Amino acid sequence: MSMLPPGVTLSPKPLIDSNTLKHRVEELGKEISADHAGQTLTIVSISNGATIFVADLARHIDLPVRMDSLPARSYHGTTSSGTVDLPRDLKLDLEGEHVLVVDDILDTGRTLKRVVEHIRSMRPLSLETCVLLDKPARRVVDIKADRVGFEIPDAFVVGYGLDYNEFLRNLPYIAELAED
Ligand code: IMP
Ligand code: MG
Repeated sequence: MSMLPPGVTLSPKPLIDSNTLKHRVEELGKEISADHAGQTLTIVSISNGATIFVADLARHIDLPVRMDSLPARSYHGTTSSGTVDLPRDLKLDLEGEHVLVVDDILDTGRTLKRVVEHIRSMRPLSLETCVLLDKPARRVVDIKADRVGFEIPDAFVVGYGLDYNEFLRNLPYIAELAED
């Protein structure tokens, strides 16, 4: 496959294929639309990982929506570094707003916890979290997402926004890296 960077191989079978992703994302969008009916929603995605997920999710949310993104970095290679950087702030004001934070994956939980604390300090009217993937076995801080696309085992995955050294975000399904 030509999207693979040199030296990287994927396990042969997708962990989550693109059709399964599509249906679950649509379902999450419908649930969010129903639960926030009558409200305006501000979606804050954590970039870069959540960009592809949020692009699909937002198009299944039938509400007046505003979108912003917050870059966060905690990962180097395949191991979590333990510190979370928020190198810039949001463009939108969240005070008094209903806010949905979207991320690609909940792993140790450090990123989402840091972002949630930051957003809470901006005094939103409500704050809820949605992640595409959850690896509960890897949690080191006490946090749960309000909405989860799929619970997965403790494996390093790529695709649909998730990267390996910044590559493979454009893979249209979720796959595991092959052991070598
Ligand atoms: P946490 O702070 O440990 O929960 O990690 C969250 C961030 O680490 C995610 O937003 C991802 O960018 C990255 N991450 C965690 N697990 C994986 C994985 O299996 N593949 C790719 N990126 C991951
Ligand atoms: Mg990320």
